[in-house]
Amino acid sequence: MTDIDRVDGLVKATGAARYAADHRFDDLAHGHLVLSTIGKGTITSMDVAAARRAPGVLAVFTPFDALPLHGPITIGLAPILGESRLPLQQPGDRSVGYHGQIIGLVIARTWEQARDAAALFKTEYAAQQPQASLRDGTPEALPQWKRMEILADGVRGIDEALESSHAVAGGTYSQPPKHHNAMEPHATVAIWQGERLTLHSATQGPAAHSWEMAAALGVEEKNVHVVCPHVGGAFGGKATTWAPAVLAAAAARECGVPVKIVVTREQLYTVTGHRPAVYQTVRIGAARDGAVNAVKFDAVSSVSRAGGVVEFPGRVALTAYKTPNLYVDNRGVQLDFPPSTIMRAPTDEPGSFAMESAMDELAVELGMDPIELRLKNDLIVAFPRPPEESRSLPFSSKHLDECYRVGAERFGWDKRRATPGTVRDGDWLIGLGMSAGVLGASRSPYAMRVMFRANGTVAVDTASADLGTGLRTVLAAVCADSLGIPVAKVKAGLGDSTLPVERSTPYSGYGAVGSGSTGKAAPAVREVAQAATKALIEHAITHARSPFQGMDPAGVRYEDGVLRAGDRAVGFGELLTLTGTREMGASEVSKPEPGPSQYTFASFVAHFCEVRVNRWTREPRLSRFLAIADAGAIVNVKTARGQIAGSVAFGVGHALLEGTRIEAATGRTANANLADYLIPTNADLPNIEVHFLNHPDTALSPVGARGIGELGTIGSAAAVANAIYNATGKRVRDLPITIDKLLA
Ligand code: MOS
Repeated sequence: MTDIDRVDGLVKATGAARYAADHRFDDLAHGHLVLSTIGKGTITSMDVAAARRAPGVLAVFTPFDALPLHGPITIGLAPILGESRLPLQQPGDRSVGYHGQIIGLVIARTWEQARDAAALFKTEYAAQQPQASLRDGTPEALPQWKRMEILADGVRGIDEALESSHAVAGGTYSQPPKHHNAMEPHATVAIWQGERLTLHSATQGPAAHSWEMAAALGVEEKNVHVVCPHVGGAFGGKATTWAPAVLAAAAARECGVPVKIVVTREQLYTVTGHRPAVYQTVRIGAARDGAVNAVKFDAVSSVSRAGGVVEFPGRVALTAYKTPNLYVDNRGVQLDFPPSTIMRAPTDEPGSFAMESAMDELAVELGMDPIELRLKNDLIVAFPRPPEESRSLPFSSKHLDECYRVGAERFGWDKRRATPGTVRDGDWLIGLGMSAGVLGASRSPYAMRVMFRANGTVAVDTASADLGTGLRTVLAAVCADSLGIPVAKVKAGLGDSTLPVERSTPYSGYGAVGSGSTGKAAPAVREVAQAATKALIEHAITHARSPFQGMDPAGVRYEDGVLRAGDRAVGFGELLTLTGTREMGASEVSKPEPGPSQYTFASFVAHFCEVRVNRWTREPRLSRFLAIADAGAIVNVKTARGQIAGSVAFGVGHALLEGTRIEAATGRTANANLADYLIPTNADLPNIEVHFLNHPDTALSPVGARGIGELGTIGSAAAVANAIYNATGKRVRDLPITIDKLLA
């Protein structure tokens, strides 16, 4: 465990870090996307003559003047994670599936010229009424997810189990669609040199991005080079390749100049994905002593007719609480709405809000302390993820009970009064709430390269990306620790599709997704660092100019950057200089133990929130927040703490602020900007205190680190809602919890 600053902190803080859109070239042209202004229908005509004549315009592409590629992106997870159809492909494809669909592209000398020309488009439509709201649609069975019903002996149905319970609590919990809103917009700069394409693209997985681009453009994968050393936030929105990147590369090929497309803030709301809207009905039944007897979880998620993911929040019930009777169903509603994708704890964020709110309601119903209720129903044997495996397996390492106890102690939970509205400070009603969160973990093959260099440094490389989450720092810290050298001597490389990548599983190449980077990369660094050390010793005993030449490998040992044998001690840099070798090491794929796992792997968190609600205006203000996380071994405390604090901030956003507003009549996104789409700023947040238990999960990997990134988002919205209930007696089940709902 280390506690170091970000290794890329200085370049970011000083502005030296270059993001995709920062790349400039003398002959660089700029693309501007033109989007549909109806929610459903057909384009009847497009008059682009004025746009073509506008100053600086190099090309105009529309469905009438196609920009042909080679079909949709169909590799890896692309069609699952994003749109299933690319725009501007077939001449004559004039259908509009959602408001804000790409219907044109202007390429011009400057961005302003492209934007101004785009404003000269005259587009006529035959418009139809879109079905853009979740409640307008009819729930359908989803192919992705089966209904699941487990009943105790003699119980005929979940409703019977609920009815026979001493207490039943719950309700319908809903939330609007939400957008990632990364600081850095999606951007691609595409440069062709003959057959070879270089892309400066904002992406979570440079390798998968290169494969998807190659497939879409019909070129060989080896000819596509993606470079993205820095990514300014992603949150799932940059996991897959979206149309603007493909269009930039295709337009650059067509026009014979490098092309840059930066998606505007408003356009980000319809062309690069969002989290689906969700409503979920949860009922939990329990005996008088609090033992849960039945959980019924019925979730409905929106999904675009144009493709994308659904949320299946009922999944949280499989890893949450012990129950003899369990029913989970997840359905989808198809909408004339932009394609959705994964976003910040997909599925777990809405699911945990419902589950943890319902548990709080059950505690009220039973007159029981919410921590006692959770301890009473602590789950030991769970259904691992993915849920297709119907086997139940014990958690490999679970210390959620300790999270509750440590948190209660540190937060002063004993001062909480169960009766709402009883603690006041002047005009402010004070409430305390808590909740829990579970984040599935896994290990999969992970490619890593560790090279000793003649200049005395070590390079550690993998083709993932650092989204601002700290992976570069983790690679450097684990590598330095494994080799016994200072972090300053390690150069961590990522954000490049030519770096080592493993391709054997569907997720390979997708880089930084699913909070899996540290858990997978840390053991890979350690394993490959050991292999690199072995290779270095082998080099030392075989090279003619090495002082160790001819020695028995057992007699030569590597220690803290130095090779030793008897009284001989030579640093690796010196050795490589002596042998005239620039670098020496290992590039390998680190794999988990073969065979099916015997465990369910997951990280856990307990959230504690104190809220102050003004008794007249009902304005809620958070005054304290504490998260106690059980995420296995903590590799680097400072970046890990940042991960949890940041993801708790997302939870606060979900609870109080975030939501994409859709105009029902048109399907238009009404708040497609950061002034109207609210996310928490520092002034909205208290100091978010984070504490880690640090119990290594050695069943998962020798390092024992599990996922952290999304953990803080899971359950934290419920902690806020539960605190608001404790302050006011008002239970809000529809997110975000805005003042009007508290006044009602
Ligand atoms: Mo994360 S939503 O898996 O990028």
